[in-house]
Amino acid sequence: MLKGRDLLTLIDYKPDEIKEIIELGIEVKKNPEKYCNALKHKTLAMLFMKTSTRTRISFEAGMTQLGGHAIYLDWRTTNLTRGRLEEEIRCIDRYVDIIMARVYKHEEIKAIAEAAEKPVINGLCNLFHPCQALADLMTIIEHKGNANVKIAYVGDGNNVCNSLMICGAKLGAEISIGVPKGYEPLERAVGEAKKYSEVSICNTAEEAVKDADVVYTDTWVSMGQEAETEKRLKIFPPFQLNMKLLKLAKPDALVMHCLPAHIGQEITADVIYSKNSVIFDQAENRMHVQKALMLKLLGKA
Ligand code: CP
Ligand code: NVA
Repeated sequence: MLKGRDLLTLIDYKPDEIKEIIELGIEVKKNPEKYCNALKHKTLAMLFMKTSTRTRISFEAGMTQLGGHAIYLDWRTTNLTRGRLEEEIRCIDRYVDIIMARVYKHEEIKAIAEAAEKPVINGLCNLFHPCQALADLMTIIEHKGNANVKIAYVGDGNNVCNSLMICGAKLGAEISIGVPKGYEPLERAVGEAKKYSEVSICNTAEEAVKDADVVYTDTWVSMGQEAETEKRLKIFPPFQLNMKLLKLAKPDALVMHCLPAHIGQEITADVIYSKNSVIFDQAENRMHVQKALMLKLLGKA
């Protein structure tokens, strides 16, 4: 039962619940007009501590397409930092039907969910990016027919990696992670993924990518880590997703990246635009799967 729930990590979501959301995402993508009034008169508050292109626009456009309304709120133009988060959220909660927030620390999204009675969606924190993972698995299922594939992730064991591992493993994918020593994904996420599937972590990109059906990477410097840029740019180059690395995966391997990409760092332009790339389908699917998610959390599907 998804009605009234929060989506903070996907750890508390059962495989069948994740499947339900993705299946509805695929259906909503095929028949958008069927749902054009499903969230009529419903309002989504979107709180952003950090910048965004895809998360903001896919949620806002998605809400419009469902007949509802979305309000963009950032930390500079609201009183979210002048007042205590708890009281500010309690007020927002009285006005709207559902809340999505992008925050720095995982504790902040937890505090928002505790203060709000309405469903709260994590639009990215330092540890997780669950909406991204839902769109990623929807894209893999669309292109491969199911999620029984080997997903290789190379680069930084960050928020995107943690959520991809959890979501992928829950749907049956084998997960192979190639990261530099000291940049491994969150132990809690690895432990959760291992309950459902085979997960291996190694310290070379080549080993991780071998015979993979999906090769995924993300930025080496996430939002909030800007002070570590110089150090990270020295450590990560052996993990670049380029044509040479891609050749180690299966010939029809999908190339994925959550975007924004830093061309010449974690990925090369020829890989982004190669025949294997599904990067823009992945970005589009953010909107379809988040429409499905909101319909489920609001009990309208
Ligand atoms: N992939 C993603 O979340 O993009 P934005 O940071 O632009 O929202
Ligand atoms: N890992 C990146 C993802 C951006 C969508 C970050 O947190 O900045």
